[in-house]
Amino acid sequence: MCVHHEKARAPLVALHNISFTALNTAIVKRFSYQFFEGTVSAITGGAGSGKSTVLKLAAGLLVPHEGSAFYRGRDIAAMNKKENLNFRRESGFVFQDSALWANQSIYQILELPLRVHFPAMTETMRKKKIAAALAGLGWTKEWDLRPDRLSMGEQKLIAFTRAVICDPKLLFLDEWTESLDELSVEKLFNMVQRYKAEGRTIIFVSHDPVITKSLADFVLIVNNGVLEENNAF
Ligand SMILES: Nc1ncnc2c1ncn2[C@@H]1O[C@H](COP(=O)(O)OP(=O)(O)OP(=O)(O)O)[C@@H](O)[C@H]1O
Ligand SMILES: [Mg+2]
Repeated sequence: MCVHHEKARAPLVALHNISFTALNTAIVKRFSYQFFEGTVSAITGGAGSGKSTVLKLAAGLLVPHEGSAFYRGRDIAAMNKKENLNFRRESGFVFQDSALWANQSIYQILELPLRVHFPAMTETMRKKKIAAALAGLGWTKEWDLRPDRLSMGEQKLIAFTRAVICDPKLLFLDEWTESLDELSVEKLFNMVQRYKAEGRTIIFVSHDPVITKSLADFVLIVNNGVLEENNAF
């Protein structure tokens, strides 16, 4: 990777001196980093070090108490409704705990982002897209099941499918291989590798050194809410 070339370009996502506090405790402290288009970055660090919080701040799901997060140069917290919707459509997020809607079926969970971001899409088209996405992951179970009928690993697979259903250019993945069987890990790994080859931007949290080493161009190590180190592979 040509570092000088990277530096000459504007970052896709930028964190400028971000701090985040909860219950009077600083969870993320003066965190700055630039994520460039087409790169894969891994965030690692010990349990409770602030990785998930940093990822949510970068995705605009949490608003920093100090500093700002930027997407394509726009302060995410200052975006208007249209800009925000556009950012949501262009990005996908897999939550560490999957965060599926408890009272919705798999089909409804996967359909909602398509309904929101592609209002002109027909039901037939939505079904086709959902079927293709599920087939791509080897999903064989019914579509009318609710999350409480799924194992943690199955919930992760649906969460991943929801994150990519709108074909995002930017992916945020939090512990995306946790609690998955080997075959599913391989499927998701191959999919993320393909996204990487397609030039999409991926920011993921993982404590798996093999996954991190084989996918990431950049590795950020977070310790106690502080960006301790960042390395390029
Ligand atoms: N909303 C909140 N209110 C209070 N404390 C919080 C909140 N969110 C996170 N924390 C605390 O901040 C710290 C960092 O949390 P975070 O989930 O970002 O860590 P993590 O590095 O992702 O951990 P893990 O490896 O276990 O997923 C933890 O000690 C957590 O308890
Ligand atoms: Mg976490």
